[in-house]
Amino acid sequence: MEKDRRLIIAGNWKMNKTVAEALDLVKGLKRNLIQVKELDIVVCPPFTALSEVSREIIDSNIRLGAQNMSEQSVGACTGEIAAEFLKEFLVRYVILGHSERRQHQEESNALIARKVAAAHAASLKPIVCVGETLEDREDGKTEAVVEGQLTGSLSGISTGQAKETIIAYEPVWAIGTGKTATSEQAQDVHAFIRSKLESLYDAAVAKQTRIQYGGSVKPVNARELMSQPDIDGALVGGASLDVRSFSDIVNNSIWPPNIMLSLVIGFLTFILVVICAILMVLILVQLPKKDAGAGLAFGGGTAEAIFGAGASTPLAQITKYCAGIFLALALALSALNAYRSNLGDRLLKQEAARQAAKTPTTPATEPAPTEPPTVTPSGTEPETGETGASAEANQPEGEAAETPPKPTPATKPNPNNWFS
Ligand code: 13P
Repeated sequence: MEKDRRLIIAGNWKMNKTVAEALDLVKGLKRNLIQVKELDIVVCPPFTALSEVSREIIDSNIRLGAQNMSEQSVGACTGEIAAEFLKEFLVRYVILGHSERRQHQEESNALIARKVAAAHAASLKPIVCVGETLEDREDGKTEAVVEGQLTGSLSGISTGQAKETIIAYEPVWAIGTGKTATSEQAQDVHAFIRSKLESLYDAAVAKQTRIQYGGSVKPVNARELMSQPDIDGALVGGASLDVRSFSDIVNNSIWPPNIMLSLVIGFLTFILVVICAILMVLILVQLPKKDAGAGLAFGGGTAEAIFGAGASTPLAQITKYCAGIFLALALALSALNAYRSNLGDRLLKQEAARQAAKTPTTPATEPAPTEPPTVTPSGTEPETGETGASAEANQPEGEAAETPPKPTPATKPNPNNWFS
């Protein structure tokens, strides 16, 4: 289904992946998803892997997100991470109010609202999670709980900021349990959230805000979920830890054109296999005949084993047409597959050329002097120093076509800034 809002598929890696594992995963995703332009792809590694993952995906179509941040900007907050620190690694999204934090760290709506405000102040896009427990649902309280979380977590957030906020509906009973909400259940709550956004803000906010679904999203259910009118993406946990399954979720969420091409190829392959089986049966049926040979099956004697030569009997005629269809299908499939892999190769080469053109940096030994990234007014993107053609070339359209917030030239040395 075509939607006005651009889909956003984000992987929440939670407390998984060492730096080495994170790099393996993100390299695989880059390889598999390099051609995807139709939607936004975000990975949210643990804090410890942000810098390496950020370097790996810079100039790719994959964006970086964090899993949490402090509501404070600086100071005596042991163990906390401020928005500005995230921006040093070109983080653009931050998950806030995940049910695991609401539950285990007892984060309140008021605290989440302060974090959402702090994220906007730093021009990070918050992904605000809401969702009911199984008990809430069974008690018929789903809407009341979701409404309370939504209203509380967006308290004090302006209309402009709300449009830049992503809501993730994650029913707690579906997280990590393998129990996905049915697409109807999810759609109902998404439509409800959209209607609440309209009453909290206005129709434009309701229309523009992207609402992701999260909770046991897998390659098999992604397409069905994404086809719902109010579901604008997915926040994926377990299935985002594997290259294949996250890539499949992304690819299965695109409609059209890649899925269309895959469907056509799949359908033609199926017909090809059926025709092949029919051909084999037809040939076997005709082999016991006198003067048997492959040529007989196609209408000729052993010496005329050329397709169609002298075909006379009805069976030989059918065999001849089946052979023709078989050949045509095989050719069509080869052409379609060549088109697909040629497209992938071209994009891979472009990416390799871009990487080669980039000047290697030596951050660990020679930190270039920098100043902290520019903070712009809430809800707007920071001004960027560079908008190189190579970086733009690989930008998805729409929202992600914005230039990543690159640190501005420096007056103060910051040895931790790896991207200067
Ligand atoms: P699962 O996809 O593992 O159910 O996790 C969902 C989630 O919590 C994403 O934030």
